[in-house]
Amino acid sequence: MTSAPTHAKGLEGVIAGETEICNVEQSALIYRGYEIADLAENASFEEVAYLLLVGKKPTPEELKVFQSELVSERKIPELVQSFLKQSGDLVNNHAAVPMDILRTAVSMLGHLDAQCQDNSADANLHKSKRLLAKIPTIIGHMQNNIDGRDFVAPTEDLSHSANLLYMMTGEKPSPEAEKVMDVSLVLYAEHDYNASTFTSRVIAGTLSDMHGAVTGAIAALKGPLHGGANEAAMDMLAEIRKDIGPENDNAKILDWMHQAFEDKRKLMGFGHRVYKNGDHRAPILHALGRKAAEARGPEFVRLFELGEEVQRIMETEKNIYPNVDFPCGMTYFTMGIPVPQYTPIFVASRITGWCAHIMEQHANNRLIRPRAAYVGPETRNWNG
Ligand SMILES: CC(C)(COP(=O)(O)OP(=O)(O)OC[C@H]1O[C@@H](n2cnc3c(N)ncnc32)[C@H](O)[C@@H]1OP(=O)(O)O)[C@@H](O)C(=O)NCCC(=O)NCCS
Repeated sequence: MTSAPTHAKGLEGVIAGETEICNVEQSALIYRGYEIADLAENASFEEVAYLLLVGKKPTPEELKVFQSELVSERKIPELVQSFLKQSGDLVNNHAAVPMDILRTAVSMLGHLDAQCQDNSADANLHKSKRLLAKIPTIIGHMQNNIDGRDFVAPTEDLSHSANLLYMMTGEKPSPEAEKVMDVSLVLYAEHDYNASTFTSRVIAGTLSDMHGAVTGAIAALKGPLHGGANEAAMDMLAEIRKDIGPENDNAKILDWMHQAFEDKRKLMGFGHRVYKNGDHRAPILHALGRKAAEARGPEFVRLFELGEEVQRIMETEKNIYPNVDFPCGMTYFTMGIPVPQYTPIFVASRITGWCAHIMEQHANNRLIRPRAAYVGPETRNWNG
């Protein structure tokens, strides 16, 4: 048998295409030329969404039009609302998790979008805006139904981030909570050829439609090695808390970690394919989340202190750093968001990156079709 050609397992280090949207390097994370710390400090999520989708920083007038377009598209069709009235039963009976519900609802939106089959640049931009506007409504209605209450209708006077929080709870968030959510959405918006974005480009590369590509991307993001890590990181901290008790006894935390190392456990919210010396987004979200925890009370500060000790041990003993999902778990917990909605909220942000990539793929398409190194049996006869 001829030996299989060499390949990069998991496509590590492979440059699979070009993009003008984002650059992920150990030294910097850049969206269309702007560094992530600059955006987190100075741009709103809506401005970043415009930057990613349209390709330039909006003028104040352009931003106003964009915001009003999003507000006018927040409502979702009756058929999707009827489906979401089943979400409480589906989730509470463990037949689905919120990411599954969101995936199905987005797929349904495609059936009800008159431009679904139109891959032109103009139609794609309109569809992007509709998806961006409607995803928070899906998340909000789903959570309302899980909580056994009527749907909270979307507002017209709140920002994208504040409206998302409002629809989940029926309460207008404080400016501080809105800011933390907004920055988290800025940080999550785009990350070049990550697994879900690559999935969306592979689907778009067959000249399939945007709703289909986004549906596939949601499925890819759900996994705990990718977007699902923000929920998994919080679940892991809850497990440590249960095992060590209510106080942060550092000796017990160390024992827990050593046991995890011995068991060869992957610690959720740590490590990254590209960032081997730390994720640019993690310290930004950590600082904001910790501030929110300090304002909320000692129970939440204790959670951050636990996370910081876990992080210290990972860094000193394994040289592995937290990625953005680690502080995200603690931050969203501090904000009172139910854990199974952390990854759907990631979708509410990353939809911008996905749609930008789908448009870029459609605008300059070539089918994405790599080859595999065959390592199966040599050719043989069916009849022996
Ligand atoms: C993100 C991730 C999938 C990247 O995987 P990858 O690039 O294939 O990295 P590898 O799995 O090859 O890791 C290299 C080494 O670091 C270790 N490592 C990486 N992440 C680790 C983690 N979170 N916990 C424990 N060990 C980890 C691996 O076990 C491996 O060790 P080895 O060389 O002794 O086998 C991986 O770090 C991971 O599973 N992290 C947890 C999930 C997560 O937080 N995902 C969100 C990513 S933004």
